[in-house]
Amino acid sequence: MKVKLKIRRFDPEKDRAPWWAHYEVECEPTDRVLDALNLVKWYQDGSLTYRRSCAHGICGSDAMRINGRNRLACKTLIQELGSPITIEPLLGLPVIKDLVVDMEPFMEHYRSIMPYLVNDDPPPADERLQSIAQRERFDDTTKCILCAACTTACPIFWSRPDYIGPAAIVQAHRFIFDSRDQAAEERLRILDSPSGVWRCRGIYNCTEACPREIQVTQAIAEIKREILRRRR
Ligand code: SF4
Ligand code: FES
Repeated sequence: MKVKLKIRRFDPEKDRAPWWAHYEVECEPTDRVLDALNLVKWYQDGSLTYRRSCAHGICGSDAMRINGRNRLACKTLIQELGSPITIEPLLGLPVIKDLVVDMEPFMEHYRSIMPYLVNDDPPPADERLQSIAQRERFDDTTKCILCAACTTACPIFWSRPDYIGPAAIVQAHRFIFDSRDQAAEERLRILDSPSGVWRCRGIYNCTEACPREIQVTQAIAEIKREILRRRR
């Protein structure tokens, strides 16, 4: 089948403003949007710029706005979309070139919640044990691949880039509810701030955007409840 692609392009070295480029490629319905982008880049216009690595929904590097929704190009089938397919960079982050955005503001929020296990007890001989129930408590949020689809789908983040954003909160959740971790208080203090969890208005764009089907809004609500519980 022939598929039309409408791609938002911008090269800061040449363009004064973003513009729309139009391409047509021959695809199978079961091809992914990433395959279509590769066909353009390899055979029509080598200057088209986008990120991708694993091509299997694991690395999180090819999140982009496809037909108005944040998705991974490598997990989105052509047959799920009409024609033309509109492809844009993620919103809310500076565009470096074409579909590549600057992830540094996103990673800065991620780093701010201490995304690593904190436990000052002497390490046991073998491992720090956990029950099945304790592990299940934070299982959902371990699935995050830091693709930024959630944070850049959030209108609060668009208007307030200082908002720590859903992805960083998901990562905080993963450690706050880990029975082996000892820094929950500190992370909750960071999240109980003007740029923290209370910015969330429960719009659910993040949950809808997440390619890992993480219950993002629920994770944010659980952290809000935990802050209130500890305050009491
Ligand atoms: S929570 Fe989901 S959408 Fe957000 S960064 Fe993680 S994997 Fe991506
Ligand atoms: S290229 Fe790795 S998630 Fe799509």
